[in-house]
Amino acid sequence: MMKKRLIACGVCLWTAFCMLEARNEKPAVYKDAKAPTEKRVEDLLLRMTMEEKVLQLSQYVAGRNTNANNIGEEVKNIPAEIGALLYYSTSPRLRNNIQKKAMEESRLGIPVLFGHDVIHGFRTVYPISIAQACSWNPALVEKACAMAAKEARLAGLDWTFSPMIDVARDPRWGRVSEGYGEDPYTNGVFAVASVKGYQGNNLADGEHIAACLKHYIGYGASEAGRDYVYTEISPQTLWDTYMLPYEMGVKAGAATLMSGFHDISGVPASANHYTMREVLKGRWRHDGFVVSDWGSIVQLISQGAAEDLKEASEKAIMAGVDMDMMSRGYDKYLKELVGEGKVPMEIVDDAVRRILRLKFRLGLFENPYIRETTEKERFLQPEDIKIAEKLAEESFVLLKNKEKRLPLAADTKVAVIGPLGKNRWNLLGSWTAHGKDGDVVGIYDGLKLELKDPSQLLYAKGCDFDGKDESGFAEAVATAGKADVILLCLGEKRNWSGENASRASIALPKIQEKLAMELKKTGKPIVLILSNGRPLELCRLEPVCDAIVEIWQPGIAGGKPLAGILTGRINPSGKLPITFPYATGQIPIYYNRRQSARPHQGKYQDLTIEPLYEFGHGLSYTTFEYGDLKASATQLKRGDKLSVEVAVTNTGDRDGAETVHWFITDPYSTITRPVKELKYFEKQTIRAGETRTFRFEVDLLRDLGFIDGDGKRFLEKGTYYVQVKDKKVKLELID
Ligand code: GLC
Repeated sequence: MMKKRLIACGVCLWTAFCMLEARNEKPAVYKDAKAPTEKRVEDLLLRMTMEEKVLQLSQYVAGRNTNANNIGEEVKNIPAEIGALLYYSTSPRLRNNIQKKAMEESRLGIPVLFGHDVIHGFRTVYPISIAQACSWNPALVEKACAMAAKEARLAGLDWTFSPMIDVARDPRWGRVSEGYGEDPYTNGVFAVASVKGYQGNNLADGEHIAACLKHYIGYGASEAGRDYVYTEISPQTLWDTYMLPYEMGVKAGAATLMSGFHDISGVPASANHYTMREVLKGRWRHDGFVVSDWGSIVQLISQGAAEDLKEASEKAIMAGVDMDMMSRGYDKYLKELVGEGKVPMEIVDDAVRRILRLKFRLGLFENPYIRETTEKERFLQPEDIKIAEKLAEESFVLLKNKEKRLPLAADTKVAVIGPLGKNRWNLLGSWTAHGKDGDVVGIYDGLKLELKDPSQLLYAKGCDFDGKDESGFAEAVATAGKADVILLCLGEKRNWSGENASRASIALPKIQEKLAMELKKTGKPIVLILSNGRPLELCRLEPVCDAIVEIWQPGIAGGKPLAGILTGRINPSGKLPITFPYATGQIPIYYNRRQSARPHQGKYQDLTIEPLYEFGHGLSYTTFEYGDLKASATQLKRGDKLSVEVAVTNTGDRDGAETVHWFITDPYSTITRPVKELKYFEKQTIRAGETRTFRFEVDLLRDLGFIDGDGKRFLEKGTYYVQVKDKKVKLELID
C-alpha cells in the first residue's frame, strides 16, 4: 500500500514539475533531440493520458487495404493520436498529410509509424525469399534489403513486416515461399542479413526502416500445410527447430516482431506468455515491440482461446503483444481492463514505451515528414536493378543437366514454350508490394536480349497454367519441330503460394505435364525452366527433361541472368535450402530429421523414401573436388578452440562459385538429435584449376552442443563428427 502511495506522490510531483517547467517555456525533454532516448520516452509517457496511450498501441489501415486475405473495415476519420498505420501508397504525400495531422492536431505531437509488407522489394522487386536463400549469399541479400528499405522510406514507410523466418518443411503450405527454407541456421543467417539491410546502422538516416521478425513463432509447422491452423510443437521442437532464427534476429537488433495467427499446442502465438514475455522480453531482453498479425487478437475467439474481444485483448497484452493490428480490441477495451484491474498500468506503459522508443530511434520526432521526391528519384535505380539481377542469378538452381545439355551452343535455335514463356506478372511472386509487370524482364525477353540472331528464338504458349484446353498443343509441337532445343517454361501462378495459398498436391496441373509429354514425342531435347513459390513434385517431368533450371519467382530482373545461364555467359551457383520431395506423399521430408529405430526398415511399400533433390543440391557448369577434412584437433575439452578446413579444387574448365555447407553430427546424446545439422556455410568463387581453402571456426558449445526443451544449451562428452558432403572428421570431446 505504502509503495502505491509513494508512486502516486512521485507522479503528482513530476506532473507539477512538468506544469511548472511548461510555464518556464523550456522545451519538454521529449522534444529535446539532444536528450537521451530513454529520458525522452519517460518524459513523454508521463505526459500521456490513458486514451493517448491506448491509441499508441493500435494500428489501423490508412486508405484502401489491398491484401485480399485481410478484407476488413476501412477506418474512417483516423485519430491524430493513432500509433501506427498500414500504408498502401507509393508516395510520401499521403503519409505527410496524415503525419501533419498527428504533429499539429494532437496534444503531444507524437508521430505515426507507417508500416507495410516489403518482403522482397518495394517497387524494385527481387527474388522471393526462398530463392534468395538459394544464393547462400547473405551479403547480397543484405544489400537487396537495404535497397528495398531506401525505396520504402522514400515512399513514406518507416517499418516493414519482414523478414519472415518461419522454418518450413511442408511445401503444401504456400508461405514456404516467404521464408528461407527447412533449416533453422539458414533462416537465422538470412534473418540477420535482412535486419542489417533494412535497419542499417542508423534508423534515423532517412534511408532505413525498422524490421519485423515474423511470424513468432513456429507458423511453419502448420498442420497438413494449411494456413491459420493448429501447430503441434513440443517444447523440445520449439527450441531445437524454431527459436534459433528469432534469437539470431533479435541479437542482430530487430526492432519488432509479429506474433502469428497459429495455435502453438493449445496456446495461440498471439496469447503466448512463454514465448513473448518470458523468452523474448525476459530472457532475450528485447527492447522493441511485438505487433499482432492482422486480426490475430480477435481470432483468439475463433481459436477457442477467448470468449470475446475484451478477453482476447486482455490475454494478448498480458502475454506480450504490444500493438494490435486491426483487431480494434485495444482501443475498445484496454481502458476498461485497466480500470477493472485486469491489466496493470505497468503493462500498458511498458508497451507504450517500446513503441515510443522506436519512434525516437527512427528520428520521427525531428523528421516526421518524408521529402517529396519524384517516382524517378525514388524507384528502379540502376544500381538497384543490378543487385536484383545479381541476386536472381545466384538464386537460380541447376537441378539437372544430363550430358551437359546446358549451356546451349551459340547458334542453337530455341523454342520457348509454356505458360511462363512470355508471362511477366507471375515472375514477381507473392507479396510484391508495388511491383509492376511492366518492370519485369521475362524469360523470352531475356533471351531476346541475349541471342544475337533473333531468328534463333521461336515461341508458342502451348497451354495455360491450368485447365483442360489442349488447343495450343499442336502449335507448340510444330514450333518445337523447327527448333534445336525446347525451352519448356512451366510453373505456378504467383497466387498459388504466399498467404492462404495451401495446395494439397505440389504437382503442377496435369495440363502442363501433358504438354511436356507431347513435346517429348518430338524427340527434341527439353530444357525445363521452373518458376514456382514452393518445391514441386517433378517425378513425372524429371525423366522427360534433359536439363532443369529452378528460377523460382525472380522478381523483375530474372530474364537476363537466366539467358546468361542458358548461353553459358553465367555459371549457375544456386543450391536448395529446402528438400524437393519425390512426391507429395513423402511430406514432411527434410534433411535434418531424427534417426530411425530401424533405418533399414520403415520404408514405404509404394514409393521411395528418398527425395528427388536433397537440401543443398545444385549443379554447376564446372566440377569441384573436395579434399579430406582437416581438424586442428580431434581430442577436445570444453573451451578448446577448433577449426576444420577443407580444400576445394575447381577441376573443370571454367570459373565457378561453390558453397560449402558444414554440418555436425552427434550420433548419441541425452536428447536425440537430427541425423546432421547445418552449422555454417561459406561461398567462394574458385577459378578453373584453382584450389581454395574453406574454414569452419567451431564454437564447441554453440556448434557441437544441443538445446533442451527450455532453451538451455548443453555440451556432452562423447563422439561428434564434422561433415562436408560425404567427408567426415571424427572428434572426441573428453571433458
Ligand atoms: C497478413 C500476414 C502478415 C502480414 C500482415 C500485414 O495477414 O500474415 O505476414 O505482414 O497480414 O499485411
